[in-house]
Amino acid sequence: MLSSVVNVQVQHSAQGGIVPELASRLHQQKISLVVQEALQQAGVQPAQLDAVAYTAGPGLMGALLVGSSFAKAYAQALGKPLVAVDHLHGHLMSAYAEEPHPPLPHLCLLVSGGHTLLLQATDHLVHQKLGGTLDDAAGEAFDKAARMLGLPYPGGPEIDRMAREGDPLFHPWPDPRTGQWDFSFSGLKTAILYHLQKQKPDYIQQHLPHLAASIQHTIVMALVHRVEQAVAHTGLQHVALAGGVAANGYLRTQLQGSAARLGYTLYIPAFRYCTDNAAMIALAGYYLRLQGHSTPHSHVPYAQHLL
Ligand code: KG4
Ligand code: ZN
Repeated sequence: MLSSVVNVQVQHSAQGGIVPELASRLHQQKISLVVQEALQQAGVQPAQLDAVAYTAGPGLMGALLVGSSFAKAYAQALGKPLVAVDHLHGHLMSAYAEEPHPPLPHLCLLVSGGHTLLLQATDHLVHQKLGGTLDDAAGEAFDKAARMLGLPYPGGPEIDRMAREGDPLFHPWPDPRTGQWDFSFSGLKTAILYHLQKQKPDYIQQHLPHLAASIQHTIVMALVHRVEQAVAHTGLQHVALAGGVAANGYLRTQLQGSAARLGYTLYIPAFRYCTDNAAMIALAGYYLRLQGHSTPHSHVPYAQHLL
């Protein structure tokens, strides 16, 4: 990895969430500068590039259009191949950002603001789904819970911080596991809302660390139990964690304890490769190129999940 440059759009936090139109305008303003800086930090000339990889989806259409248009124009101008990458595939490739790489096959838990997926990787390009969320993603559950507790956006890191002083067993929230392999986080969201509505005005203020810790415990233990179930079911001994929620201290500790107990090896990428970044997209592009993939310029971005 020669360089990885991320522009964080802090402008959204005042609105309590991402504003799509603002996001695409900011992408347009920043994309040339970010690409220039990445090349500069890597000490690479545009002519030395082998290919241009970009995120084709899923995501906000405006932002995807900025990235795909830029990538197509850039590849065209340089006469280089173009490689469309799925955002989720990118997250999964973050396991290869640094050594040691998880050997194939292995299990992947992808937990971010937009996705919650438990997969089996058989190849750099092939991932078989075991389970996923039927509604909200794990990160979204953190963000929505934080919002109800009056904490700023993004709520995951805030809950993580508040929970350190709290009791994880303070309140029994509904288990987000559903069916054989899936998750549903919307019931947890509703339970928090109804619970808070029944309380006195200063209830949140008085119990904030306990509320944060018990909500975090509920989300995290559902994820840990599914990983343990997948290890038992597949017999695989290597588990890679990906996505922004991988930054959660409690999830890391609980999974490390589980790995030590059950004897599997856990791979957690550095935080800068867990949250959204272009390095993981470049990695996916690299593995796609190794297997001869290239994308026609007529390819259009997609907003929805393909999995
Ligand atoms: O992967 P990511 O940067 O973007 C998406 O592709 O969604 O993930 C962002 C999500 C947000 O929901 C954020 O609240 C959550 O990751 N997150 C955390 C923590 N840090 C980020 N959730 C729990 N604990 C954290 N420490
Ligand atoms: Zn992401």
